[in-house]
This record gives sequence, structure tokens and C-alpha cells, in this order.
Amino acid sequence: MLRPHLPQSRLVSALTGRTVDPPPIWLMRQAGRYLPEYRAVRAKAGSFLDLCLNPEFAAEVTLQPLRRFDLDAAIVFSDILMVPYALGQKVEFVEGEGPKLKPLREAKDLARLDQVSVEERFAPVYETLARTVPELPDGVPVIGFCGAPWTVATYMVGGGKDQAAARFWAYRDPASFQELIDLLVETSIGYLRGQVKAGAGALQIFDSWAGSLPNDEFACWCSYPTRAIVAGVKATYAEIPIIGFPRGCGASAESYAQETKVDAISCDTSMSLAYMRETLQNRLAVQGNLDPLLLVTGGAHLERRTKEILDLLSGGPFVFNLGHGILPETPPEYVARLVELVKRKA
Ligand code: CP3
Repeated sequence: MLRPHLPQSRLVSALTGRTVDPPPIWLMRQAGRYLPEYRAVRAKAGSFLDLCLNPEFAAEVTLQPLRRFDLDAAIVFSDILMVPYALGQKVEFVEGEGPKLKPLREAKDLARLDQVSVEERFAPVYETLARTVPELPDGVPVIGFCGAPWTVATYMVGGGKDQAAARFWAYRDPASFQELIDLLVETSIGYLRGQVKAGAGALQIFDSWAGSLPNDEFACWCSYPTRAIVAGVKATYAEIPIIGFPRGCGASAESYAQETKVDAISCDTSMSLAYMRETLQNRLAVQGNLDPLLLVTGGAHLERRTKEILDLLSGGPFVFNLGHGILPETPPEYVARLVELVKRKA
């Protein structure tokens, strides 16, 4: 698993199979509403999408958590729904409700997507990366990302909260649903390559709704499209480490790791530490899986669980993270405490 000639950041070392002591730490959604300085920039920017499309402000919020905490990676400030946006679908973020898209429901709706201006629409994200890289502390890479085709499709087809719509399409007309997935694979390969070119030092593919698929559909709609993205990106950038996050996939994690050839697997809170160590960490690096609610709770329970995770997983390739994104009600001082605990500075 060890690969020579990689420029070494603590994150990339762990992702490429080395045991790093203490393990690197970053947090999903580490830039966001729990930080008052994020809320201030967000208010200046206008809508959430305006913020994502403003490279100066997006680079600023990408860097904000690194100014407060001794984190081992930044993650570019953007959203997985940038891909439907780039394909010309109408995407809005409604305050207090989450994303709203004008849904695609069947084969003929695919004609509404516009593939001509995709790279132009991604350009602000690339510029955010280019502005972020020179500002990063030494040895701290910025992670680029996209949503996995399945998860992005659930939003494109369901329009927001409706998780069943994509599954219905996949059952009723698998051939045309495959066309949508193939389009997302191709678009995501270009998008991730563009992010690496702009300076991303590692990538993560978020499959937040992997767990909504029944086991017999999982390989077809989660693992295979992700495998195609990993292969497509690595055909150009063989050394770029890629983290997969098949949230809620349970015991399919092992086959996901084997099929997709990701370098590391990010585990949600439901995954047992024993499974992570014995089944997954023997094959690839693991990331996760502290409950984001414990980071709101703080105190003895947070300390105990953090130590358990470290005791079980830090003997192998491991990146400390949450099992899902940080919650807006998280006290920043608990994040500081967590980072201290992981770095054994406390
Ligand atoms: O991790 C980071 O700090 C980088 C930025 C990032 C955001 N979204 C910013 C964001 C990343 C990596 C994402 C990924 C994302 N977006 C996922 C996958 C991870 C996961 O949480 O499962 C998904 C499913 C989305 C889609 C999305 N974007 C939803 C469902 C929502 C609404 C829910 C919410 O938290 O408000 C968003 C909005 C969003 N994306 C916010 C942020 C900071 C909040 C918007 C605001 O500031 O008002």
C-alpha cells in the first residue's frame, strides 16, 4: 500500500496507507454556520450560491477554520449541488429548508440539461482553490470534492428532500437513469480533474444517500459510478488520493472499497470501530467516525469517545473526522478541545 515519491503532508501520508502519529484531523463541513465569522461573510455574500460563486469570499471561509484550529486539511468551500448547477439545472438554497431544484423526472427531462457551459460554471470553484492554496499553512493541503452520482441524482430527480423519486426512475426505466448517471460520472471526472489542476491535494466523493439503496442495487448505482470516477481522475492524476464516503452503506463498505479502488473510506457513525479496524483498515485508510452530536454535547462523553476511536484506529492508516457534517449549533470551543485531544496537546 505504501507509495514512494509523494510530497508529504500528514493527511496524504495517512490516506496513502501510512500510520501517522498523532493522526491527521479535519472535519466535514468545517467551514459553516457554527462559526460567527462564516455567518458574517455569508451575510455579505447574499445567498449561499452567491457565496459559492464568489472566489474571494469562498476562499476566505475555506481558510477560517484553519485560523482557529490546528487542522491538517482545508476543504474547498462549495457544494455537491454545483454539478447540477453547472449542468444548467435550476438550484436554490431556501433558508431553513435546504436545497430546492427543479426536478428531472424521466428520460425526456434529460434534454433540459446543458453540457456546453459546464466548465465555465465550474470556473469560480477552481479560482477559489487557486486563491486558497498560497494562504495555507505548510504541509496542509486543500481537499477538493464532488457528490457521488447516486447522491447528486437523488437531488436532481427528487428536487430536494424526496429520496424515493430517483429510486423509482431507476426501477422503472434503468436505461435512461443510467444515462443520467453516466453524464454525472463524466461531468464529475472533469470537475475533479479541474480541482486538482487548480491545487487540490486530495479529493473526497460524498455519497451521502448511499444508504437509501437496497443491497442488490448498491453496486450498480453507488460502487460502479464511483469506480469510473476514481479511474477517470487517476488516469490523469495517478497519485491524487481519493476518499469515498458511502454514508449508511453498512456491511457493503468492504465491497465498495474493493470495487471503487478509493484510497480511503470515510465511515459514518453507525460503523463499529471493530469493523473499521478489522475489515476495512487492513485494506485501505479509514476516516471517521465521531458522532457530530457529541461535538455539540462536549464534556466527558466527547472525551471518552474520542479516546476510544483513537485507541482502536490510530495504530494504522487513519484520519480523524466526524461521521457526518458538523452541526450549526456546535460550540467552536468544543472543536478546539477535540483537536487538542487528537493532537495529545491536552
Ligand atoms: O465541508 C466543508 O466545510 C465544505 C463545504 C461543503 C458544504 N456542503 C457547504 C454547505 C460540503 C463538502 C458540502 C457537501 C454537501 N452538500 C453534501 C454532502 C455531505 C453531507 O452533508 O451529506 C450534501 C448532501 C450537500 C447538499 C446540501 N447543501 C444540503 C442538504 C444543504 C442544506 C442543509 C444545511 O446544512 O443547511 C446544503 C447547504 C450547505 N452546504 C451549507 C453549507 C455551509 C449551509 C448553507 C448556509 O450557509 O446557509
